[in-house]
Amino acid sequence: MSSGAGIQRPQHIAIIMDGNGRWAEQRGFPRSFGHRSGAGTVREIVTACGELGIDFLTLYSFSSENWKRPPDEVKALMELCVMYCDGEREELVRENVRVRVIGRLHELPDDVRGALERVQEATASCTGCTLCLAINYGSRAEIVDACRSIASAVRAGDLDPDDVDEAAIESRLYTTGLPDPDLLIRTGGELRVSNYLLWQISYAELYVTETLWPDFDEPQLRAAVEEFGRRRRRFGGLDGAAASGVPTA
Ligand code: IPE
Ligand code: IPE
Ligand code: MG
Repeated sequence: MSSGAGIQRPQHIAIIMDGNGRWAEQRGFPRSFGHRSGAGTVREIVTACGELGIDFLTLYSFSSENWKRPPDEVKALMELCVMYCDGEREELVRENVRVRVIGRLHELPDDVRGALERVQEATASCTGCTLCLAINYGSRAEIVDACRSIASAVRAGDLDPDDVDEAAIESRLYTTGLPDPDLLIRTGGELRVSNYLLWQISYAELYVTETLWPDFDEPQLRAAVEEFGRRRRRFGGLDGAAASGVPTA
């Protein structure tokens, strides 16, 4: 978290971009139309984060549970991912946005993986906002993968079980190296986290808006950031002067 003129600003915003399907259905269109419109919102919000000085933006783009959807919707989402990565690549470089991808990428179709690799490569030396795309991402799968990695290291004799601590787990999460999200925004009104960044959002401030993702825009992002600025984060401690005290007998 960084401060500007005494107002706390999130360093890392994570978003559950929900409501594309409902947005399309309300208009009598197929759900994929909502996903296409949602991609336009992604463009606007990425630019807005750059302007607001947000260092990290993580977008829930496709969950490990979204494979349960009808094949034509999954196909449309995968195609859209390729279109976004290839279509926005040059603009992302222009905006100095560095792209990183989290999730079980090896399970994705080759063309999707290729597009994700191309955009990561093209933006690798960008130094502005980091856009982290969560694709085929599930937090439980991420934790399972971290546990497997720890078990392998112990078996190989490279890690003592007594040395397994929070840092040992964090270093094996897909998000290693990223600060934890300060602010988690969910559009579409659902009051749940849907297997998103469960470890990382331990102390994130939650912000849920009824606005469906295709209708979310820069002023609404600013409103969420302003609301964040009014929250009092305690991380289990206390406000103000007492926060820095040591336990008394
Ligand atoms: C979120 O919108 C996008 C993805 C899950 C990929 P939804 O498709 O879940 O939209 P609703 O929640 O059904 O309206
Ligand atoms: C979460 O939305 C996943 C993404 C936004 C990619 P879902 O629509 O899949 O979540 P549930 O099913 O309502 O919990
Ligand atoms: Mg949904």
